[in-house]
This record gives sequence, structure tokens and C-alpha cells, in this order.
Amino acid sequence: MTDSAATTRSRPLIDPRKALSFAGAVWFVTAAIGQLAFVLYIAAFYYVSTFQGDFARMDSRVIHGFINGDLLGNALFLSHVLLAFWITASGPMQFIPQVRNRFRTFHRWNGRFYLTVALLTSSGALMLTYLRPHFGSPALLFVNTADGVLIIAFGCLALRAALKRRFDDHRRWALRMFIAVSGVWFFRLGYGFYFFITAGEMPGSHNLSGPADIAVASTWIFALAGLEFYLLAQRRRSGAIKLVAAAMAIAAAGAVLVSSYFAAHMFWLPTLAA
Ligand code: HEM
Repeated sequence: MTDSAATTRSRPLIDPRKALSFAGAVWFVTAAIGQLAFVLYIAAFYYVSTFQGDFARMDSRVIHGFINGDLLGNALFLSHVLLAFWITASGPMQFIPQVRNRFRTFHRWNGRFYLTVALLTSSGALMLTYLRPHFGSPALLFVNTADGVLIIAFGCLALRAALKRRFDDHRRWALRMFIAVSGVWFFRLGYGFYFFITAGEMPGSHNLSGPADIAVASTWIFALAGLEFYLLAQRRRSGAIKLVAAAMAIAAAGAVLVSSYFAAHMFWLPTLAA
């Protein structure tokens, strides 16, 4: 046997490192498509209603919305849904390597903008949550509070790592922040997925208080765990771990596409049609 034949035989069919980064890119593209649907919904519903001064229309969509005499709560609610557009639109661009490498100034300014909007949205959302009567179970309150607090914590850690020029750490904290910021989007996708796997029956889901509601509200936590596994697989030399993480990322990408489709039909399209 020649040396070149031996080399050909021992070379693995799939390069685990390439498979992992390909799977990560596939997941990211599906997430960007799903977030585009969410951002279009926010623009078409909240921005159009605001420009038309139709606040009753917005009330029909949420639990509290505008409350007579609650000036602070109403201002926080309106700014929350309007800022939601900017945070969802600006986030994904930060993670496109071609944009990050070729347009560094844009990456820096968009990053500052994304972080500022994230901090404003999360601190405002936490105030809104605790100033007004709670809805859903205490577990839901805990999951939402954890989301708001972690967005702030991950954002500060991403900024600190960037200032210290530790760019690997910066990337990891920014990715964690992106998952936490996407918590509301994951919540909708969670319902879409649950609808799909239970053929619309959705047992255990009632008034945001059932066990299924808490599991669905925790979708972003499962996504965060998935991200940690992906990051671990990137660091480890084991090809097997990389291939398992790649398979999981591809499965997650499929779930994102299916869930986005059902979320659009359950939440976004009916709201726009009403
Ligand atoms: C940072 C990313 C976030 C985005 C993009 C976002 C987006 C939204 C959107 C679009 C709505 C309107 C409901 C809908 O049409 O689906 C909403 C409502 C709401 N959000 Fe957020 N949100 C974020 C973070 C949070 C966090 C961390 C909390 C809690 C700490 C929170 C608390 C709320 C509450 C309480 C409402 C309902 C208001 C009501 O019923 O009156 N949000 N959010």
C-alpha cells in the first residue's frame, strides 16, 4: 500500500470541525429567518398602530397594555414594544462573520447600539413586570425575571471582554446575550413547536400557568444549554463531540423552521389580520 493510499483511507469522511461550523451557520440562518418574521410583525402591528394612534388595537394583543392613569407603566409598555423592533433587527447582524470582519466600524457601532437597547429594554421590562399585577404562575415570573437579569449580565460581560480585547470571550458572552435577548421570540416558537408535536391539543397549557406553559417559557434556557454544548464542542478536540453537537444544531435548525411557521400562524398572522 502506498503512503498516499493510507492517507486517503485514514481521512474521515466528514471533517468534524467543518461539520460543526457548517451546522452552526445553518442554525443561525434559520434563526435569522424566524427573527425576520418576528421583526416584521412588530413593525406591522406596533409601529403601524402607534402611527395611527390606535392604542385599543395594541391592547387587544397583550394582557395589560395601556391602563388608564398609569402614565409610567404605559410609557414603559409603549417603549418596550417599539424598542423590541430595534433589538430584534440589530442583533443577528452582529454574528455574521463577513459583516464583522469587513465592516468593523459598523460592527462596533451596531454593537454599542444593540447593547444600549438591550439594557434599556430589559431594565424597562423588569420595571413593567414588577410595577403591574403579575400574570401567569410564579414560575413564569421567575423565568421572565431571570431572562431580564441575564440579558443585562451577559451584555455587561460581553462589553467588558471587548474592552479588554479578549475577543473569544467577547464572542461567547455576546452569543449568550443573543439567546437571552431572543427569549420572547423563543417563547412564541416554543408554543409553535408544542402545537406541532401535540397536533394542536397542547395538554398542560392554560392561562400561562400550566406545566407546559412553564416549559415553553423556558425554551430560551434550553437554547442556552444547547449553545453551551456547542461552545464546549468547539473547544474540545474530540471529533465525536463535534459531530454530536453538529447533529444537534441541524435538528435545532429544523425545529426553528417548523416552530417559526406555526408561531406565525398562531400569533403573528392572526394579529395582523384582525
Ligand atoms: C429583550 C428582548 C425582548 C423583546 C424583543 C420583547 C418583546 C416584546 C413584545 C413584542 C411584546 C408584545 C407582545 C407580543 O406582541 O408578542 C412584549 C410584551 C411584554 N414583555 Fe417583552 N420583550 C423582551 C424582553 C422582556 C423581558 C426580559 C421581560 C421581563 C422581564 C419582558 C416583559 C414583557 C411583558 C410583561 C410584556 C407584556 C405587557 C402586557 O401584557 O401589558 N420582556 N415583549
